[in-house]
Amino acid sequence: MYELTVNNVSKSFAKKVALNNVSLKVRKGSIFGLIGPNGAGKSTLTSILATLTLPNEGTVEISNLDVVSKVNKVRKKVGVTFQQTTVFSTGTAWENLWIAGKMYGMSTTKIMERGEHLLKEFDLFQASNDLVDTYSGGMKRKLDIAISLLHTPDILLLDEPTAGLDPESRTTLWQIVTKISQDEGTTIFVTTHYLEELNHLATEIALINNGKILDIGTPKELINKLAADQIEIHYRKLDLANIHKIEAYISNLKEIVRHEIKPTVLTIMTSHGQQILSELLKYLIQSNVEIKFSELKQATLNDVYLANFNEKEAEL
Ligand SMILES: Nc1ncnc2c1ncn2[C@@H]1O[C@H](COP(=O)(O)OP(=O)(O)O)[C@@H](O)[C@H]1O
Ligand SMILES: [Mg+2]
Repeated sequence: MYELTVNNVSKSFAKKVALNNVSLKVRKGSIFGLIGPNGAGKSTLTSILATLTLPNEGTVEISNLDVVSKVNKVRKKVGVTFQQTTVFSTGTAWENLWIAGKMYGMSTTKIMERGEHLLKEFDLFQASNDLVDTYSGGMKRKLDIAISLLHTPDILLLDEPTAGLDPESRTTLWQIVTKISQDEGTTIFVTTHYLEELNHLATEIALINNGKILDIGTPKELINKLAADQIEIHYRKLDLANIHKIEAYISNLKEIVRHEIKPTVLTIMTSHGQQILSELLKYLIQSNVEIKFSELKQATLNDVYLANFNEKEAEL
């Protein structure tokens, strides 16, 4: 059921604690996002999962194999792309795939077959005999990821894959990666600080800061926890009796965390913006309140980020 389990992992460099008792589980075939500011420990964890760094404490299992004692088996199951590109810019895409394939111990036929399939998926086939030096940043990143998928890994680790890419390349990259994950059942573990791109993509998200996991949940759970959807309803001036009546109605709604009712405007903070807005509008119309307009500002993953990281950074 789980492709990856991280149990109480800690890692220090000299006196610097990079990871502090990190635990998380990633379901097979899911897209898991690890989010946090610079220095949070994202790359250190990715590097441990990729068997390139050893943890000081704790254990990691990939496909039920311990990453420290079963390193060779684990490497066959893992593909990794770090933020720094690892492609040779003096070679073509094919030459890069070739070298990687031989390092994975793949046969020539297999490299050709899988390479062609991936080059086509990543829309690089036409440029596959051009020097990588002539590629755009987005194309290089796509080639990096294609190479890390060459040996058909069970889990793909992506460390800030979209950093420095323009919005269009980011969207394209995600479309391709999601398709491959769906087609091949590949589990995706991704670190990023572009949160919004994970909103409709990630099955689960972990928030990390100073090497510690702050929270884990689906994007919706994390957003709902903030209860930061904001509703404003403007109406023709109410009399006092109506204000009291509406006040009584609102006080009975569980999901509302804060509200303020004025003669011409009602403001509300809630975890369920859309649902509360439509209930309220229905109620107000039934109560013959003349609505002028309403606004709903739904909380986003960016609000989750600001709530978790800005305050925490301010505490330091
Ligand atoms: N090889 C290293 N030597 C010393 N300190 C390191 C090393 N790698 C990472 N660190 C430190 O560990 C912390 C976590 O770094 P990192 O995992 O790169 O964070 P992130 O990827 O979230 O930006 C940082 O304070 C960083 O300076
Ligand atoms: Mg990093």
